[in-house]
Amino acid sequence: MNGLTSLFQPRSVAVIGASKTPGKIGYAVMNNMKSCGFKGDLYPINPKEEEIMGYKAYPTIRDIGKPVDVAVFCVPAAVSLQVAEDCGKAGVKHLIVITAGFKEVGGAGRELEENLVNVARKYDMRITGPNVLGVIDTHTPMNATFAQNMAIKGNIAFISQSGALCVAILDWSLAKGIGFSQFVSVGNKADLDEADFIAAASNDPNTKVIALYLEDIVDGEKFIKSAKEAAEKVPVIVLKSGVTAAGAAAASSHTGALAGSDTAYDAALRHAGVLRAATMTELFDLAIAFTTQPIPSGKNVAVVTNSGGPGIVASDAVEGFGLNMARFTEETTAILAEKLPSTANIKNPIDVIGDAHADRYEIALDAALSDPNVDAAIVILSPTAVLDTTETAVITAKAAKRYPQKPIVASFIGGAAVEEGIKYLNDNGIPTYPFPEPAIATLRGMIRFGELRHEVGRGGQWEFDDVDKERVRAIFEGVREDGRDLLLSPEACEVAEAYKIPAAPSRLAKSPEQAVEQAEAMDYPVVMKIASPDIMHKTDVGGVKVGLKSKEEVVAAFSEIMENSKRAEPDAKIYGVEVQKMMPPGDEMIIGMAMDATFGPMIAFGSGGILVNLLQDASFRLANGLSEAEVKEMITETKAYTILKGFRGKQPDDIPALEVAIGRVAQLCRDFPEISELDINPVFAYPDGLSALDVKIRLS
Ligand code: COA
Repeated sequence: MNGLTSLFQPRSVAVIGASKTPGKIGYAVMNNMKSCGFKGDLYPINPKEEEIMGYKAYPTIRDIGKPVDVAVFCVPAAVSLQVAEDCGKAGVKHLIVITAGFKEVGGAGRELEENLVNVARKYDMRITGPNVLGVIDTHTPMNATFAQNMAIKGNIAFISQSGALCVAILDWSLAKGIGFSQFVSVGNKADLDEADFIAAASNDPNTKVIALYLEDIVDGEKFIKSAKEAAEKVPVIVLKSGVTAAGAAAASSHTGALAGSDTAYDAALRHAGVLRAATMTELFDLAIAFTTQPIPSGKNVAVVTNSGGPGIVASDAVEGFGLNMARFTEETTAILAEKLPSTANIKNPIDVIGDAHADRYEIALDAALSDPNVDAAIVILSPTAVLDTTETAVITAKAAKRYPQKPIVASFIGGAAVEEGIKYLNDNGIPTYPFPEPAIATLRGMIRFGELRHEVGRGGQWEFDDVDKERVRAIFEGVREDGRDLLLSPEACEVAEAYKIPAAPSRLAKSPEQAVEQAEAMDYPVVMKIASPDIMHKTDVGGVKVGLKSKEEVVAAFSEIMENSKRAEPDAKIYGVEVQKMMPPGDEMIIGMAMDATFGPMIAFGSGGILVNLLQDASFRLANGLSEAEVKEMITETKAYTILKGFRGKQPDDIPALEVAIGRVAQLCRDFPEISELDINPVFAYPDGLSALDVKIRLS
């Protein structure tokens, strides 16, 4: 049981501002509570009335004299604090605040919302809203909303940040016959947020799938925890609209520029094992399919059709969406050859051809679904004069019962001729689609959810215990004391060394003699660069010299670099010259971090070098909770992986070394949340090991 049981299954509900006047919110809520069949006690609160809709009315909630689980606010914002105080004193557990005029209007509304939360905290009450449509539980049943109707009883929990969308979806669902378990409008999320409602829905025995419409997420960490736990029990699907401001702040770094405005949401949802829908259609297609169909165990799809064209369209969609056309076993092919006419196509797609009666669908479905190489099936039908579509629907539904571990979707294409068959399929839990593509898209989503579940289960956060935090802390303190937020290259290199991220040795020299000392300690050849946070384009000002092989060359380079830089940028603060060991060239990669306001540091890996932003080849994951398996996946997802694993006779690079480096960068960013930007570009990957050439770290 969780803390929201008394919200969804209250024993008593008070409607504050209940009204006798049709057209008022207080009338609609009262009417909905009355007509939905709520079995608990219902109390209208209105100081002017004795009775409303046959229920005794009370001037205030305190006059009831009995415990009340839920109070629904239908009174103006101006009286909300007083009403909340009364609720607190009456021992109410939940406030559903339909009232608008809070944070969403800014200014005084924001303050009012804060005060409302304070009152609720004082009395240990929870708030849904403010600014919401309300809450429905069809199984209780309870309809504490001002929607026109009650939702149909079903198994989808719908949680929405838009109240207007709630009413639209509700109306649409009635026309389509789609049922819900819980229906929640989260509004301003002053107290309870999406994470709380996800947890509640996942603990609800009547919920088989959770569908969310979100515009933002209040607390990234809380959301991920809640969504991850929920997704282990039931599929969780999110439609996220709007873009975040995240990443934009970090766009001055390469990694920040690689991260799209929505990258963090993708990474977070994936990490939590949550499916992301791209459209409203996809959100509900998936939600409906998950309530009746099992999660596929693989991506091999069988297509059964009575017409060539739609069969090919479906096959193209299967391949196009990254799924596989199942390859039947010899046994399956033999059965199909024996039982279907010679004119039929017995390979996938199985074409039972135009003169088929329903019995051929039975043969084809049985053969396909009993094949171990098939994970899911789509039934396609074009209405011919010789085919009984309803009988085909019955056969399809029966096949689904015989193979309950394999999902079946259907596309009976047509109008009046297929209507009855489609209705039969829907009534019997087979999802239907007007055309094959959305059916296959739904299968793809279901398959992806199965993969995510598998991914999320693999291992915890990848940790390294041989890192030197103290050394990093001391470097950061030094940088701050110097009034900077950007580390000089030698400092950043030392940070990398402290976390055993192999960086090309780099030291700061304040004099030509010191430069020679350092060059000899790290061995020639060396590269020398001006050390100044104020000079961005070091090469352009003559601040870089490469391939220096002797004491003489180093001494000359030191003076030249200093003179060139001072001449070009007289106001720049110059710390000296960086002496870096010149490394042999390798395959150029990037490892970096971009900070997201909601989900924290995101780690990137991809193709690096000067073309990094042109190539746009990077994969991202959240640093928090990053597992070894996720790191491996990050690498294989990129185009760079083709180069890393060996390409046209080139030796493969040391991929395990890269994996470890990514894991260590993630740990560095977790350990030091004050790192606001981090780019290691390029990282040279070699057949044996790697070398971080240019490490850039900025502190917040
Ligand atoms: N306790 C109990 N009842 C009270 C009360 C109190 N302290 N103060 C007033 N009332 C009664 C009123 O007398 C009235 O009843 P009546 O119809 O019998 O006269 C009823 O509560 C409502 O008050 P009223 O002043 O008429 O407000 P209203 O109905 O015009 O508006 C809201 C109230 C909540 C609907 C309105 O303030 C609001 O927020 N509207 C927007 C809602 C919205 O869009 N939410 C987001 C959806 S996604």
